Amino acid sequence: MTKILDLKNDNHYTKLKEAAQIIKNGGLVLFPTETVYGLGANGLDKNAVKKIYIAKGRNENNPINLLVSNIEMIESIAKEISEIEYKLMNAFFPGPFTIVLKKKPIVPSILTANGDTVGVRMPSGIIAKELVELANVPIAAPSANISGKPSGTNFDDLYNDFKNKVDYMIDGGNSSIGIESTIVKVIDNIPHILRPGSITDEQIEKIAGTVIKDYEYSPSNIPSSNYDHYTLNSKSLLVISNDNEKMVCKINEIANTYSSPVIIAKHENINKYNVKTVIDMGTCLDEIAKNIFSNLRKADSFNPDIVIIEGVKNKGVGLAIMNRLMKACDDFIKI
Ligand code: TXA
Ligand code: MG
Repeated sequence: MTKILDLKNDNHYTKLKEAAQIIKNGGLVLFPTETVYGLGANGLDKNAVKKIYIAKGRNENNPINLLVSNIEMIESIAKEISEIEYKLMNAFFPGPFTIVLKKKPIVPSILTANGDTVGVRMPSGIIAKELVELANVPIAAPSANISGKPSGTNFDDLYNDFKNKVDYMIDGGNSSIGIESTIVKVIDNIPHILRPGSITDEQIEKIAGTVIKDYEYSPSNIPSSNYDHYTLNSKSLLVISNDNEKMVCKINEIANTYSSPVIIAKHENINKYNVKTVIDMGTCLDEIAKNIFSNLRKADSFNPDIVIIEGVKNKGVGLAIMNRLMKACDDFIKI
């Protein structure tokens, strides 16, 4: 039986000792982080890591990151850390930032898909942080979702998918950021951004001088080297425009050709659509990021014949939101 710990309105974090013990013993724990929920196991135990791949249905060619709680732990799993890598870690740890470092042999190869690097993140979310500290081992933790589905940012969205697949689940309410960490790999002293997140390209540029954007906007029907897709059950379309009124007009026009469309729209636009179901994605980019995955899941739950999503400003955290929406949608149009 999966045990559940409710820490939504409870700050008795010593209760996390039981979950930490399960991690140490090779079990699986679903828990919140400030970005999205994670599915955690002892990152140094290859059998435990294997269980994550099975529970998520994850392709074993897709490596998993480690969550750590201090610099000594990082130095126990990574080697030849350069000045710029230390600089980036000092600037963005703890927080929604993952850095890909050269791994030490102690890190099992199943975690890194046989590669010689390992992604490392020091979370700032109190539950994740305490859990790593109490377990006193790096915790392997991909986003907690069945592979290919949207990441989970609250307990209720994940409960049914994982209730029989993990040993322990922690409900910590909503993740405060809502999209996964920014991933950076330093190559020849230049940070390459592999996945945009709430730590923006501009913030990294300020620390490191230049950056290279190694991410792309690939709709999920175009083959991509990256495994992060957020496929909905319903048909989905992203509509992108710099002209708000034109975008609203186009979405109304498309929606009217379907019988049960759902629209995910910015707060300012929710009353401009003549369809039954409009989901309010929020006002500012931070709010939109925080709720985007649960809004995608909500849209899907209506079982519509199409989900139409408004694009957002492609700046700052908006870049990360658009990156996720491009991957979630079957198609997009730009007008
Ligand atoms: O915010 C986050 O990063 C969340 C929370 C739970 O910490 N985790 C998360 O993990 O998003 P996951 O596995 O869903 O996404 C991690 C991404 C994957 O695309 C994986 O391919 C990439 O990181 N990755 C992992 N190790 C890597 C490595 N050594 N080199 C390059 N990419 C790596
Ligand atoms: Mg993921």
